[in-house]
Amino acid sequence: MRIDVLTLFPDMIKGFLDESIIKRSIDKGLLTVNIIDFRTYSKLSNHQVDDTPYGGGAGMVLRCEPIFECLDDIRTPDSFVILTTPDGIKYNQNIVKDLSLNKKHIIIICGHYEGFDERIRSLCDMEISIGDYILTGGELASCVIIDSITRLIDGAINKESLESESFTDSLLDYPTYTKPRVYRGLEVPDILLSGNHQKIAEWRYQQRLEKTKERRPDLLKQRGE
Ligand code: ADE
Repeated sequence: MRIDVLTLFPDMIKGFLDESIIKRSIDKGLLTVNIIDFRTYSKLSNHQVDDTPYGGGAGMVLRCEPIFECLDDIRTPDSFVILTTPDGIKYNQNIVKDLSLNKKHIIIICGHYEGFDERIRSLCDMEISIGDYILTGGELASCVIIDSITRLIDGAINKESLESESFTDSLLDYPTYTKPRVYRGLEVPDILLSGNHQKIAEWRYQQRLEKTKERRPDLLKQRGE
């Protein structure tokens, strides 16, 4: 999987790529991430990339030419282009799965906090919002997308860890415990110490159902329950 990220703030993303599972996946050759500072594509003086909005209004708007010209360079028939923006489709685990399993080359354009020229949207296959709140830019959103996609790449993490995690089968995860058995009066449920794997599996499934019903009934509707 190759991911190219177009940003004006490369350092916001570099540190994130240098830790934990993402770093390991890059080191193992499962993932390649190129961070492209698209300011280098500006032909204006001082590499200017934004300008005042036509029709008036507050703030500076990202110009479209640097993005178009960058994509001229890096886009191939295999590329899938994503724009991060609060007015995009709400990101969820189904989109993560689709991107991770079906796309070979993803290009993420980080939106700009004060807005971008509408023509940039015409370049994109998908616009993604990571939630109903406004970030200062799309860099954190791009990290969220890279992180969530990488976990599902074959070999990035232990397969068993993915089997019952939240959102698999539209259910939240079951509760887990480790030692000590009792801490400050808080006990590990007896069933988990029983050694009866069949009963433990049933208990865990029941816990997933109950937790989802209580916290995220909308997910149960997706299952048709
Ligand atoms: N840019 C600013 N806010 C955002 C959000 N919620 N999701 C994706 N990109 C954004």
